[in-house]
Formats: sequence, C-alpha cells, structure tokens
Amino acid sequence: MKGIVFTELLEMVEDAYGDEVLDRVITMSELPNNGSYSAVGTYDHAELVRLVLSLSKEVNEEVPTLLKAYGHRIFKVFERNYAQFFEGVDDAFSFLESIENHIHVEVRKLYPEAELPTFDSQRIDDHELRLTYVSSRKMGDFAHGLIEECMTHFGDKATVKIASMEDEGAKVNFVITR
Ligand code: HEM
Repeated sequence: MKGIVFTELLEMVEDAYGDEVLDRVITMSELPNNGSYSAVGTYDHAELVRLVLSLSKEVNEEVPTLLKAYGHRIFKVFERNYAQFFEGVDDAFSFLESIENHIHVEVRKLYPEAELPTFDSQRIDDHELRLTYVSSRKMGDFAHGLIEECMTHFGDKATVKIASMEDEGAKVNFVITR
C-alpha cells in the first residue's frame, strides 16, 4: 500500500485526536518502522489494518466508522494532489464510472506497485448508479467514504447505501441515489 495512505491516516489521527493518541496508536500497532512513512514508499497493507484496529480501541469507535471518515478525508487529498483526474469532468456519476478504466489505470502508471480494487458500474438512470467494489483488502468502508465525498464534491445530494456484501467484504455492492 502506498505511503500516502499511511501519512494521511496518521495526520487524520493527529488532527482529530491529538499527539498523545497518535503516539499510543503507533506504539500499539507495533510497526516495523515506528510509524515513519514516506508518501512515495510502499508498505504492507497489514500495517494499515493494525493502525486502524489500534485506533478503534484507543478512541472507542467502530472500524467501519473510522474507515469511512478516512475515505472522506482522502478524497479531499486527491482533489488537491491529482487535479488532472477532475479536469473536464462535471458529473459525479461520470467520475465514479471512470475510476476503473481511467483513474486507477493512470494511478497504476504512476505507481506500478499500487494495490487497487476493481469497480464494476451499472448506470440505472440519471438518479441511480450501482457500483460493485472487489478487493482482497476488504476496504469497502473506505470506498463508501470516498464515494460519499465524491458526490458532495460535485454538488449532488445523494445517499450511498451498501446493498449487499459477499466474501466477508471482499465484494461490496453500492447503490448511489441522487
Ligand atoms: C482522483 C481520484 C483517485 C485517485 C488519485 C486514487 C488513487 C488511489 C491510490 C494511490 C490508492 C492506493 C493504492 C495503494 O496504496 O497501493 C487507491 C486505493 C483505493 N482507491 Fe482510489 N483513487 C481515486 C479515486 C477513488 C474513488 C473515487 C474511489 C471510490 C469509489 C476509490 C477507491 C479506492 C479504494 C477502495 C482503495 C483501497 C485499495 C483497495 O480497496 O483494494 N478511489 N486509490
């Protein structure tokens, strides 16, 4: 997993809960590098899982709630750092439909070692989009937050619901209604 995913998570913890919680979460997670990550490095996904589990214990919040909040935050980071993916796109559904065949394709060119999910999309009509997330990393709650923030970014009032889940979260079916 790319370092940016770690550095932003640690910043979110610091902003939301302060230095002391951040230090305790890093210690509890028994990380090989003591919580120092470079945005361009690549690290084991299991370290991210440990960090989120430690945070969940430390602040007494459910893991899905934390991952969703983290999805909201990282979408804003993507807006700032990857403006090229937003150019010429003025519709949230079009943006979400382009993750699989455009955005993540370009991400993979930038970072060949990135571990990316796959998305299958089905446009029902102008008000409903169905997205199926598939990834062995089971980060559906993180995707949930990203999708919600994406709808907000494009000015759509929307509800994003998990319609069903398979393989313990390795496959998640989202229904997005606006
Ligand atoms: C400008 C837009 C986007 C950029 C630049 C981007 C880039 C990235 C990057 C760099 C990673 C980390 C890969 C790694 O750590 O190895 C990632 C992972 C991920 N992305 Fe995107 N992404 C974008 C939009 C989205 C959106 C809108 C969604 C949600 C539908 C999404 C869903 C995910 C998920 C869930 C992961 C975690 C890996 C997994 O679940 O297997 N991304 N993306």
